[in-house]
Amino acid sequence: MDRLKDKVALISGGARGQGAAEARLFASEGARVVIGDVLDADAAAKEINSKVGVRAVAAVHLDVTRAADWRAAVDACRREFGGLDILVNNAGVFNTTGLEETSEELWDTIVNINQKGVWLGMKFAIPAMRERGGGSIINISSVAGLTGSAGSTAYHGTKGAVRLLTKAAAVQYGPEKIRVNSVHPGIIATQMIDIIPKEQRQRFTAFVPLRREGTAEDVAKVVLFLASDDASYVTGAEFVVDGGLTAT
Ligand SMILES: NC(=O)c1ccc[n+]([C@@H]2O[C@H](COP(=O)([O-])OP(=O)(O)OC[C@H]3O[C@@H](n4cnc5c(N)ncnc54)[C@H](O)[C@@H]3O)[C@@H](O)[C@H]2O)c1
Repeated sequence: MDRLKDKVALISGGARGQGAAEARLFASEGARVVIGDVLDADAAAKEINSKVGVRAVAAVHLDVTRAADWRAAVDACRREFGGLDILVNNAGVFNTTGLEETSEELWDTIVNINQKGVWLGMKFAIPAMRERGGGSIINISSVAGLTGSAGSTAYHGTKGAVRLLTKAAAVQYGPEKIRVNSVHPGIIATQMIDIIPKEQRQRFTAFVPLRREGTAEDVAKVVLFLASDDASYVTGAEFVVDGGLTAT
């Protein structure tokens, strides 16, 4: 119940999917949470607050590609809940186009959201964590950041970059007690993968040793572990949540 008691978290892309599941779980474990998204996140915050019975979650507008939005989101953590201990860099966009088929505009969009957004989030969250004497950053990469495929070129490139941005930050900020880890979900049933045809999803799932798609809650439980003091000696590491897919 209290694994995140007295902690304040900022979750990007928290209006739906995995980000909303993490906000729900964090709030049920005693955290105060700010969720930021380009979508309206008020409904997600309201639903969680009515469930936990206190104002545990606040929503802000956050476009992760914009430094000014990150500054405002971190300020909101201080103003609403007194500081910041946990950052989940969860916002992301998926695409399926291959290398030559990817336009320069699409490349820039994916890189700005999935890669630059993660860097900016850390850049603005770290000074606030320093004020609290430490913190935990969880960067959501993907199994696409570990292995390649014949499409989704920009997605692979950005998710691979998140893996090493994570390790570089873990090395730089370990001495300040700021832990930084990456999480690599496999096939997770959220709106993000609605663009993959149903038959193709069934074919993918047949290769998953646990023989099912993951849920947003499956990932949220691992993110909770990394956010909590249970992971006090864990940094610079990568956590695969894929039902065994990358073991095949
Ligand atoms: N669903 C999967 O199968 C899967 C697998 C591996 C990794 N992931 C990663 O998990 C994370 C969460 O995705 P999800 O599955 O919940 O999908 P989702 O599409 O439901 O959620 C992504 C959220 O990010 C938000 N977002 C997009 N661009 C943004 C921006 N510029 N600024 C702020 N927010 C923005 C969206 O509005 C949305 O709320 C992503 O980083 C994704 O790449 C997902």
